[in-house]
Amino acid sequence: MYVNGLLYKHLRSPEKGLIKVQLGPGQKNYLEGWINVDANMFTGKCDVWADIRNPLPFRDEKVDFFYSHHVIEHLPDLQLHFNELYRCLKPGGKIRVAGPNGDVAIQKFVENDSAWFSDFPDKRESIGGRFENYIFCRGEHMTILTWSYLNELAAAAGFKNLRLCKPITETGFPEFVDAQVLSKEWESTPDHPHTIIIEAEK
Ligand SMILES: C[S@@+](CC[C@H](N)C(=O)[O-])C[C@H]1O[C@@H](n2cnc3c(N)ncnc32)[C@H](O)[C@@H]1O
Repeated sequence: MYVNGLLYKHLRSPEKGLIKVQLGPGQKNYLEGWINVDANMFTGKCDVWADIRNPLPFRDEKVDFFYSHHVIEHLPDLQLHFNELYRCLKPGGKIRVAGPNGDVAIQKFVENDSAWFSDFPDKRESIGGRFENYIFCRGEHMTILTWSYLNELAAAAGFKNLRLCKPITETGFPEFVDAQVLSKEWESTPDHPHTIIIEAEK
């Protein structure tokens, strides 16, 4: 997969035109007209088979927009990832990055609001067990995403104009985050979203 990513970057990745990339579409979130990149071509539908723990399979300053939804929490080195997003973006390029909402999860845990948490992936009765499910997802998630942490990572990579967006309804980049994209953002409680989303610009 490492070699495949490298070959794609040097032999096939586009150099011209409008380039919109989704990282980690999974089974249901494939975006038509985008370059969809995923590590799992069996359970997911993708255009490029690559492991995004490695450097991203794009050349410097070629991509207009990156989108990812519930993917970066699976990565071991988020600073490397934000640096890579920045490297691949054209000047003025943009990102929308989303994942489990650590800020709201902590608030709901403190409020003892067990109903906010689901019993996925493991059946848990206690709020502690449900909190653990949400944050670590049986060891699939490697980190906890909060606004201050994402802000720090993105700013350190060089991003500017960082903002927090509500799922489904809010974007500063409607030219990229159109109805097709927003239709993929599942959310059950709009006022206390399960997904934290940041947008930023290079
Ligand atoms: C929880 S699913 C999210 C799918 C979809 N974006 C959504 O919101 O429903 C995580 C996706 O990220 C992909 N993924 C996880 N780690 C990855 C990696 N290191 N490189 C590429 N894709 C990865 C998985 O294969 C999976 O498709």
